[in-house]
Amino acid sequence: EAAEKAGYEHFMLKEIHEQVSAIHNTLAGKVSELEGKIDLKELNMTDEEIRKLSRVQILACGTSWHAGLLGKYLFEQLAGIHCDIDICSEYRYRSPVISDGTLAIAITQSGETADTLAAVREIMSYNCPTLAITNVVGSTITREANSVLYTRAGPEIGVAATKTFSTQLTLLYLLAVKFALSRGKLSPDYVKGFITGLRKIPGQIQQILNQKEAVKECAENFAHSDNYFFLGRNLNYPIALEGALKLKEISYLHAEGFAAGELKHGPIALLEKGTPVVTIATKGQTYDKVLSNIKEVKARDATVIAVADNKDTEIGKYADVVLTIPPSSELLSPLLSVVVLQLLAYYTALARGCSIDKPRNLAKSVTVE
Ligand code: G6P
Repeated sequence: EAAEKAGYEHFMLKEIHEQVSAIHNTLAGKVSELEGKIDLKELNMTDEEIRKLSRVQILACGTSWHAGLLGKYLFEQLAGIHCDIDICSEYRYRSPVISDGTLAIAITQSGETADTLAAVREIMSYNCPTLAITNVVGSTITREANSVLYTRAGPEIGVAATKTFSTQLTLLYLLAVKFALSRGKLSPDYVKGFITGLRKIPGQIQQILNQKEAVKECAENFAHSDNYFFLGRNLNYPIALEGALKLKEISYLHAEGFAAGELKHGPIALLEKGTPVVTIATKGQTYDKVLSNIKEVKARDATVIAVADNKDTEIGKYADVVLTIPPSSELLSPLLSVVVLQLLAYYTALARGCSIDKPRNLAKSVTVE
């Protein structure tokens, strides 16, 4: 086992680092920067078929559901295609209405989650074409879905998903941009810039990893808090949910993620002096709104840990701690912010002496309903 960990103390830390190569490998052969083209042969859909789609239905559980939620934002914002997302254990029992022209996308790193397989069988019984996004070659989902896109993350041993999540996101970015191109919503020139940005992500993740001591110090300072909150807006909302899930899974701290705008509708009542509130405050269309949320949090004497661009000179005036990421486009920054939150969860669990790779009560894949 020590050899497999390649010098890292835990598989989770190794897998956080492997995101650099995992994203690179997931992109390999799929993007052409020169032509502004995205090639997803495995999708088995012509441009004409993509244009005719009226809806995307995403089905997933757990961390994969968080990836799917970001996917919804991407399909709607970039490709202008209606997208619903369901938690699989809810989907089959809520009598879903499945319209013609729907493409189902099932996201499951293991390809074996019982609830996801059941939801896929349900939607396929309506003759709905289904695409699976998974990390495991030959898993059950790959035999059931009509087409399969693989995340090239390599084996993930840590129960808390890290590199499978960021590679799921990578494929969802590619799919949404591909759909947008086919539907005439984005120009090849825009897509060239998008691909240039995406190709930079592995190197930028490496830069975040090079400064992981800052995240460790922050994690140690707040490791004995009772509650932790995570806020984000727009594309960062799913990342806030994922940050909270990572923390609760491996550190057993109570952590909740919220859409930052919902703060005033309840969560603000829970803020006390010193409660850590991780706020994703990267530059983008909701930046000013997020700053207002930070001020609301500060007014209750809670502590703000902001995830922000390293070029942001303003955020330090408001946040107690600033954890930085290299500047990237608003669209792609979730791929960077999530790495900071994974490290925060990891170092918090380490400081609390938890069983990081095998947290209590959790399994890598849940094969019972
Ligand atoms: C379990 C794992 C999670 C995972 C979820 C869904 O709860 O511990 O990390 O997100 O299952 O798994 P899947 O394989 O379908 O992505």
